[in-house]
Amino acid sequence: VRVAVIGGGQNCEHEVSLASAAGMVRALLVKGYEVVSLTIATDGTWRDGAGRGIELADAIRVLGTCDVAVPAVHGPRGEDGTLAALCELALVPYVGSGVRAGAVAMDKWTTKLVAQAVGIVTAPGVLLTATTARSYVWTRPVVVKPVAAGSSHGVSLVSGPDDLEPALSSALALDDRMLVEEVVTGREIDVAVLGRPGGERMVAPLLEITVEGVFDFDAKYVAGTTFDVPAHLTDGETAALSGSAIAMYDALGCAGVARIDFFLTADGPVLNEVNTMPGFTEQSQVPRMFAAAGMSYGDLLDILVRDVLD
Ligand code: DAL
Ligand code: MG
Repeated sequence: VRVAVIGGGQNCEHEVSLASAAGMVRALLVKGYEVVSLTIATDGTWRDGAGRGIELADAIRVLGTCDVAVPAVHGPRGEDGTLAALCELALVPYVGSGVRAGAVAMDKWTTKLVAQAVGIVTAPGVLLTATTARSYVWTRPVVVKPVAAGSSHGVSLVSGPDDLEPALSSALALDDRMLVEEVVTGREIDVAVLGRPGGERMVAPLLEITVEGVFDFDAKYVAGTTFDVPAHLTDGETAALSGSAIAMYDALGCAGVARIDFFLTADGPVLNEVNTMPGFTEQSQVPRMFAAAGMSYGDLLDILVRDVLD
């Protein structure tokens, strides 16, 4: 079976996406797949497995020779449905969520509206653009985020009025819409949902992230972060978090594996975000969560690929 792994990408998660793709390529080779590696450079041009520049048309032709594609590009122009769209048009079956789920989940505002519709709590928040931001008045601590970005890029905690302007600028540098949300205090819990053929939903053991300060880009990849899996939770908490995660997965129409991140507050779970192409290095949350259920990195990937081929 010939598998194309697509990594890299044109956004600030490029390096993470390269690492996810590299881990996948290694594991798929060990599983006996024939692997074709395709990389999107930061300028949007494509590279073949040998690092040679190729035209988009050639990349599509290569995809056409594969039995299945594994998109491994996090963030905009990848996880947001664009790679799924490319695979759809190239008529190549692919692992993971389709165009709509990727696009909606990448948009934190739309995700909030979907969550509300299915009774899942999110942080109270407002949508701002560069224009409406001018009349926004700071009254209490808030978090400012670009509507579409990943790995906490462009996210700032605004604890005083003087922090507002720089926070808005860094969010606007990544997207022309931004979300201003009330600060949610709670334990940070990630839930991985694997959708199988026939509608079966498998939830891996839950993971708690402990970190000093805001879980920003540096904390995520540089220092100070601890993953605890299985997270120490009551049966009731686990059921509430798992149920909310499955409800979000189904409301968005996700496929393959999605990681749905919550804050567990005194009043119950509050949805933070949905990742349809979650970090997938061996050290990332999703592989660690499934490993806690006895499923190795290679086995998880094998299941994802086989489910698409069957
Ligand atoms: N956006 C990063 C890669 C994650 O969800 O793990
Ligand atoms: Mg994310």
